[in-house]
Amino acid sequence: MKESSRRGFMGKALGAVAGLGAIGSLVAMKKTWDPLPSVKAAGFTTLDMSVFTVGEMVTEQWRGKPIFVMKKSAEMVAKQTEEQSARDIVVNGTSYMVAIGLCTHLGCIPAYKQKEEYFLCACHGATFDSAGLVTKLPAPRGLDIPPFKIDGNNLILGEVGPEWQALKDNGITL
Ligand code: FES
Repeated sequence: MKESSRRGFMGKALGAVAGLGAIGSLVAMKKTWDPLPSVKAAGFTTLDMSVFTVGEMVTEQWRGKPIFVMKKSAEMVAKQTEEQSARDIVVNGTSYMVAIGLCTHLGCIPAYKQKEEYFLCACHGATFDSAGLVTKLPAPRGLDIPPFKIDGNNLILGEVGPEWQALKDNGITL
């Protein structure tokens, strides 16, 4: 190999190594910028909806907020008004009530009265029915429904799926 072509070859080889190094640095930098997997996961809560008991109001957590969840039987669904049914979240053919457990007046946590089947906010007396609709002022609207996506038996809170988008578009939740 002539001296000039050897230099050309060495130049290209060094350039290739430098290029690989630059890509490696960029990958390393991107890893630094990306949120940690735990931080990403922190925005979402996955609920396996098959484990809930019919008629039992359960409080889950999502982003530090209480989330009320209740599985409904076919009989319960049949008794509902149209307005109540419009708030149902249907996962694998079963209806659920899912709502953020914060009063829409000033954010207190309403208590569920299991026997009477309604929520009472002790702060200023607002009430909500078991579907989350407001039944007594001063709460300005029903309990909000957290963004969700349905994935098989799971409800992924924090992701926006078409079912939640439809609720929002129809003014059922903020
Ligand atoms: S915060 Fe619930 S009624 Fe005021």
